[in-house]
Amino acid sequence: MPFRAHFDCLWCGTPHVCRGPDDLEGWAQLCPECVGKAGDNGFLRFRLRQALTERGAARASETPPLGSSDDDVDASPVRPVSVAAATPARDRDAEMLAYYEARAPEYDDWYLRRGRYARGPIHDAAWDAELDAAGRWLDDLPIRGEIVELAAGTGWWSPLLASKGELSLYDAASAPLERARGRLVAHGLRAHLHVRDAWAEPDRQVDAVFTGFWLSHVPRDRLDAFLGVVRRWLKPGGTFAFIDSLFDPQSSAADHPTPADDASVRRLDDGREFTIVKVYHEPRDLDAALSGTGFRDPSVTTTGRFFLTGFARAADAR
Ligand SMILES: C[S@@+](CC[C@H](N)C(=O)[O-])C[C@H]1O[C@@H](n2cnc3c(N)ncnc32)[C@H](O)[C@@H]1O
Repeated sequence: MPFRAHFDCLWCGTPHVCRGPDDLEGWAQLCPECVGKAGDNGFLRFRLRQALTERGAARASETPPLGSSDDDVDASPVRPVSVAAATPARDRDAEMLAYYEARAPEYDDWYLRRGRYARGPIHDAAWDAELDAAGRWLDDLPIRGEIVELAAGTGWWSPLLASKGELSLYDAASAPLERARGRLVAHGLRAHLHVRDAWAEPDRQVDAVFTGFWLSHVPRDRLDAFLGVVRRWLKPGGTFAFIDSLFDPQSSAADHPTPADDASVRRLDDGREFTIVKVYHEPRDLDAALSGTGFRDPSVTTTGRFFLTGFARAADAR
């Protein structure tokens, strides 16, 4: 995440102005009070670790840190003008991660149509029916053996996957993973949970990879590269399965603006705003991308209004 001379604390929202470009607060975008509480809180510890690494890297390279120029300094750091091509990839990725760290306690409201995500009984019933259909589709897939779930978040799909094989679930943010851990424990299921970037090169080959609502966070121009990472995770013949978003105006929260240019502005319950990459792919585009990146028999369909479901097998090594 870039250094910010003044910002609203990512954890509590309090505005803070840094004394100088070396202030850890500015790298972590946490106010001094939250920095002081980092010992008791996984998210704060994670932000501080990242901040130390990023400050160290900036010092080592002796180049001005990203975001330290006047142009980039913004009183509300989580509200950049646009996330589209003009925004450096590192900033976009960091903002998305900060968003999901902060959203972890309220993430499942989206699935459960609670609070700002409740859209009235008719829409919500349609949503529930399609969510059930997506779950049944996943349950019917022939997935077994060693399974990797990338960008697993709060683990909505993890109990189902953990009941099919030996599941490793990864996410780059620790707060959602903690929720996934609680969900698995509540189901009496075992899995391996680790903080890990979805873009990190695989350290082994497995029988199946699953992503839920992650391909839509991969920028269009990086989709083939990401599918290449998935292909390298898989043994020949292994399964890639995903569930993702179709665009529907009722899918997101009532106070979220209409997405444009593959970007969505998202608000938390406390009003903090983030702009993230959100690409609504057409099934045929994903079919073509899978065929072109080492997969065979791709099948990308929809549940109707809200969800995409996709499946492909890793082709034999070329
Ligand atoms: C839309 S949520 C999906 C969560 C879950 N897969 C689901 O289906 O409910 C996207 C997830 O991607 C995670 N994420 C963001 N950037 C990431 C990255 N570079 N590597 C791994 N996970 C990342 C976020 O922390 C968040 O949990």
